[in-house]
Amino acid sequence: MARLGVNIDHVATVRQARGVMYPDPVIAAGLVELAGADGIVCHLREDRRHIQDRDLQILRQTIQTRLNLEMAATEEMIRIALTTKPEIVTLVPEKREELTTEGGLDVIKFFPSLKKAIQRLHKGGIPVSLFIDPQKNQIKASEEVGADAIEIHTGHYCDAKTPAEKDKELKKILDAVAEASHCNLQIAAGHGLNYVNVQRIAEIKEIEELNIGHSIIARAVLVGLKQAVREMIALIR
Ligand code: PXP
Repeated sequence: MARLGVNIDHVATVRQARGVMYPDPVIAAGLVELAGADGIVCHLREDRRHIQDRDLQILRQTIQTRLNLEMAATEEMIRIALTTKPEIVTLVPEKREELTTEGGLDVIKFFPSLKKAIQRLHKGGIPVSLFIDPQKNQIKASEEVGADAIEIHTGHYCDAKTPAEKDKELKKILDAVAEASHCNLQIAAGHGLNYVNVQRIAEIKEIEELNIGHSIIARAVLVGLKQAVREMIALIR
């Protein structure tokens, strides 16, 4: 059974939309742990559009499960990771203008710089996962570059419109998992997973961890809305 890591970035997105103090992703992380999640994931982006440095510092002090820090392999982020010491770093590609992380890392193209980044993080005692597309050559390169784990990008499977397209994307994931299970790599998956599409991915027994964010936070808004309205009505009346 796969572990669940919950990405809390979009709690911070709602807060940053108003520049106020709530909702606090730190409180969200505590509730996520109380509900039984195996870990907390957050992405400190270069532009700080959601998670802030303060969030990361307090999350580090309060998380009782595992902190998975997603970040770009930049000098600034490597320094932050080395002082924060998350249980694992997931290296992701990052472009300022994108809505979210849109594709996996190109481990082959950036092999030398990724190798250096991984070596520095390992020196600080931090294991490293690489967020990659489900492609055999990227998996091989991930092992060669010294990664401890990979996170397979499920976004194309999740975005597929027709059943045939979904089957095609699922096959890519299954082939990638088969390849990775012969390598010395832990296997996670994530991106775009929701209440409708998660099952077929959760059935893949070699995948040890699923990292899910947006759909869980989006559902929390809806399942919590009635209570929130009732509480406001009680105050007004
Ligand atoms: N895994 C990685 C590497 C990601 O970059 C993200 C998005 O931040 C997720 C998982 C979670 O994706 P989603 O919010 O679509 O569930």
